Amino acid sequence: MVVLLTGGAGYIGSHTCLELLTQGYDVVVVDNYCNSSPEALRRVQELSGRTLKSYELDMRDKQALKRVFEENHIGACIHFAGLKAVGESVSKPLDYYDNNLISTINLLELMVHYDVRSLVFSSSATVYGGVGEMPLSEEQSTWCHSPYGWTKFMIEQILRDTAFANQSMSVVLLRYFNPVGAHESGRIGEDPCGIPNNLVPFVTKVAIGELPRLVVYGNDYPTPDGTCRRDYIHVMDLARGHVDAIRYCDSHTGCEAINLGTGVPYSVLEIVEGFMRVNQVDVPYSIGPRRPGDVAECWASTEKAERLLGWKAKLGLEDMLRDAWRWQQMNPHGYRG
Ligand code: NAD
Ligand code: WQD
Repeated sequence: MVVLLTGGAGYIGSHTCLELLTQGYDVVVVDNYCNSSPEALRRVQELSGRTLKSYELDMRDKQALKRVFEENHIGACIHFAGLKAVGESVSKPLDYYDNNLISTINLLELMVHYDVRSLVFSSSATVYGGVGEMPLSEEQSTWCHSPYGWTKFMIEQILRDTAFANQSMSVVLLRYFNPVGAHESGRIGEDPCGIPNNLVPFVTKVAIGELPRLVVYGNDYPTPDGTCRRDYIHVMDLARGHVDAIRYCDSHTGCEAINLGTGVPYSVLEIVEGFMRVNQVDVPYSIGPRRPGDVAECWASTEKAERLLGWKAKLGLEDMLRDAWRWQQMNPHGYRG
């Protein structure tokens, strides 16, 4: 089967490409490389020993996207493409609504037109809005605090409505918790532009000496060590979850939201100290004030993913921290060489 990956050159997309190719699927990628590099796809092909087809285009250009559907017999889509920086979305909300919503609507119109029935969407734990009982189950109510989050919230609703109106469709909304790590080869990984916002890429840049120190955002939260706790998930476990979701779509219809997390929370200090221990490298840090918008704790109920997809995370914190560091060391300037 041919799977179309929108945003397939990005961090999660490139790892999922590799997993799909390894499991025997054919892959077509569309990406405008606004936050990625074609080098990631070159390395995915090298690692898998297989080729994939790629198109450089902006998904808001519906005519260009239509050609992809005309030229390929697409059996399923995984929709990663989107802008994803929470802070930037607050200062540039229209960029986020324009890019993320229009891309999705174009994709859906073409899927309906070409009778492509399976769709897996990159949603986020951000739709839980930082409230609810831990572990967060998919039944919890949703709400958001940033334009980025609202794009996920709105797209989830657009997808539910589209699946309802097109009863042969199958849509899986994968709500990722905190993806980290890299492929064990160290050849593909996360390549953020500029100073990273997320914890693990920041830690790796401090460890390699590119940034002077990590500031831990607050140690006065109501958690065991006072720092925030999150559900970090290895990107290769996440990638495997997408392939399982594609398989699930083949034998179901309707729309399901499914968490992808490990169900085990770790604090910021556990991440930093774990990183130093596992990799035998120093990460200077200091305690700073809380970051606005952060919630104390957030972790997933994994019951639904196990029940519907037969999926469970296999890799642990040490794998995540070791693989993140290997990627950083082998690629100090990311894909820019
Ligand atoms: P990423 O930025 O590495 O990948 C997104 C890709 O989409 C990039 O390659 C980018 O160039 C491409 N893209 C963006 N707009 C496009 C457009 N209009 N046309 C064509 N290509 C376009 O991000 P990622 O971390 O791989 O995230 C993938 C998806 O998962 C995103 O939708 C993101 O919101 C979601 N997500 C990410 C995380 C995370 O922490 N990384 C967590 C939850 C959800
Ligand atoms: C993790 C913890 C910080 C940096 C974000 C998005 C979410 C989703 C995943 C897309 C927090 C602390 C961080 C630093 C720190 N993305 N931290 N110093 O905020 O849980 O989730 O990425 O959908 O929507 O909001 O992840 O990695 O930014 O932070 O102390 O320099 O690390 O306060 O407790 P977050 P993160």
